[in-house]
Amino acid sequence: MKNTHGTRIEKAWLDLIIELNNETVKHSTSVSTLCVLLARKCNLEDSEIYIIKGMALLHDVGKILLPSTILDKSGSLTIDEYKTVKQHPTLGKNLLQKYNMFTDYELSLIEDHHERINGSGYPNSKTDKDISIGAGIVAIIDVFDALSSKRSYKDQWSQAQIKSYFLNKERDSEFKELPLRKLRENFDALFESVSKQISI
Ligand SMILES: [Fe+2]
Ligand SMILES: [Fe+2]
Repeated sequence: MKNTHGTRIEKAWLDLIIELNNETVKHSTSVSTLCVLLARKCNLEDSEIYIIKGMALLHDVGKILLPSTILDKSGSLTIDEYKTVKQHPTLGKNLLQKYNMFTDYELSLIEDHHERINGSGYPNSKTDKDISIGAGIVAIIDVFDALSSKRSYKDQWSQAQIKSYFLNKERDSEFKELPLRKLRENFDALFESVSKQISI
């Protein structure tokens, strides 16, 4: 079972990685590693963690279908450009669906990684009950990794800034309760994992 899944993920990843820019590849591998750490803290089954690990690697794959003029833009995006960027979860899900080897649950981890439990996310404005714990883990780690990294449009945040962001009560209405609680309890392990990846 694990090997079958590993082969499927590997095939899709090897097919698609060549199209992703360096920043997205680095982010995707880091999100995958951090998702495993948080999923373990959430006490998920090994088989479930394995799925999250693989789909987290592919979570931003829809970006290969976005114009590079938008993806590589250093300044802020126009409203129309941002609307285009917000299509990447659906584009990624549709792209992987063509492989005919991912389950609906696996594809939902791609499509739902920008959803928020209060309905403020995209692309489908889902709410808590329709967002799985797996998608909630990918969603919160996606933000954690983005804040921990320097991007073309923003500086890397300090650990103190990141902690204060996630400890803010406003996050309670955005992220699923279990992953948010476990992230708050395990900042140090997550920061350690980020610093190991940076030093590799
Ligand atoms: Fe994304
Ligand atoms: Fe991402």
